[in-house]
Amino acid sequence: MTDPATLALDGKGFEYPVMSGTIGPDVIDIRKLYAQTGDFTYDPGFTSTASCRSALTYIDGDEGVLLHRGYAIGELAEQSSFMEVAYLLLRGELPTADELKTFSTTITRHTMVHEQLAAFFRGFRRDAHPMAIMCGVVGALSAFYHDSTDIHDPVQRTIASHRLIAKIPTIAAMAYKYSVGQPFLYPDNSLSYTGNFLRMTFGVPAEPYEVNPAVEKAMDRIFILHADHEQNASTSTVRLAGSSGANPFACIAAGIACLWGPAHGGANEAALNMLREIGTPERIPEYIARAKDKNDPFRLMGFGHRVYKNYDPRATVMQKTVREVFDALKVNDPLFETALRLEEIALNDEYFVEKKLFPNVDFYSGVILSAIGFPTSMFTVLFALARTVGWVAQWNEMITDPDQKIGRPRQLYTGPTQRPYVPVGQR
Ligand code: ACO
Repeated sequence: MTDPATLALDGKGFEYPVMSGTIGPDVIDIRKLYAQTGDFTYDPGFTSTASCRSALTYIDGDEGVLLHRGYAIGELAEQSSFMEVAYLLLRGELPTADELKTFSTTITRHTMVHEQLAAFFRGFRRDAHPMAIMCGVVGALSAFYHDSTDIHDPVQRTIASHRLIAKIPTIAAMAYKYSVGQPFLYPDNSLSYTGNFLRMTFGVPAEPYEVNPAVEKAMDRIFILHADHEQNASTSTVRLAGSSGANPFACIAAGIACLWGPAHGGANEAALNMLREIGTPERIPEYIARAKDKNDPFRLMGFGHRVYKNYDPRATVMQKTVREVFDALKVNDPLFETALRLEEIALNDEYFVEKKLFPNVDFYSGVILSAIGFPTSMFTVLFALARTVGWVAQWNEMITDPDQKIGRPRQLYTGPTQRPYVPVGQR
């Protein structure tokens, strides 16, 4: 047992218990702080605040470690499948072969969406950003399953979770199809989760679509790399939305909205745009200089991370996957060379070394996704597809946590103190 933490305030002493997890930093339990002292803590961006307990994902940002239920992301990416990782995150253990088969079949049987859902797409301009469509259409799912989703019933929670994981690829593919003016394709239950998604995205009803096994494997791996990442902004958003007892489909739509931002899921789109703008390795120093210039808001996209102060372990797998996809598709995109060179220059630059800025998962993912044929506007959609597994697992964990409360942060008020209202004619 660690000794309690002591706090001295206004000449009085207070003690707060220290809680230990299985690994990682201890946390000081300050739940009674306000009741005892009348004070709050101040922690914008929650940099020092644990908002919950969780047994799903562990990150050691200094060492560059990412574990799902204890398994290293590198091993999962190399040896498992996205469906296995989904099962692992939801149920806590890796599935046996039979369990995996049953789980995959269950997910497959939920891939179709209600025919009426297609009508929602027509309400969007044809050039609407697919993330805008995702926010709207996934939110709309709540209207289809509201009465059948009692969040206090574990069976209904499981069905809602399966529906979300299964329908997200269908909706993501429909968002893409809508943007290119092609007809929607129904799911094909004979294909894998990822193969089915590729077919719904790139296939057309006029001819058969053959899934490229190398692309299917790479895509599945990309999904694994994005499946969960502890209490990041979008996951915290899902938990916060869910803490009020909101419909899970609506909570996931809230997560999608948060993920869209360029500092979070939108970074892979921004990273690829930046690489295209840089163009050739000769122009890298100019961009490195801009990234270091305090008066220039430009940042090297795909570099730096709130938690990783070391190489993002997902970036390692991603870099390897670029080569595999390029070989399989016989692509030779100079952007990859630019990316490799940029990484090398940045990693040897004092500014980046000192600030511990390393490539994150988004640095290479854009290069691969673009080689597979996805437009940049779809990148964050793919991230949302994969992260739905994590969001759903975290949402389930939150609902069953006995410590769970409605999320309600405090504030340091800096506005005017009470003052009399002045009627408009007298101002
Ligand atoms: N390029 C140049 N300088 C940077 C970069 C970067 N990519 N990232 C951080 N810095 C600098 C900041 O200017 C700051 O410098 P200062 O201390 O002199 O003011 C210092 O490093 C710390 O940066 P913060 O923004 O305070 O760090 P924080 O942990 O809040 O930010 C973030 C992390 C938002 C990811 C940031 O590194 C960034 O904007 N990176 C680019 C966007 C990106 O790649 N996002 C993807 C994140 S991964 C994901 O969501 C899956």
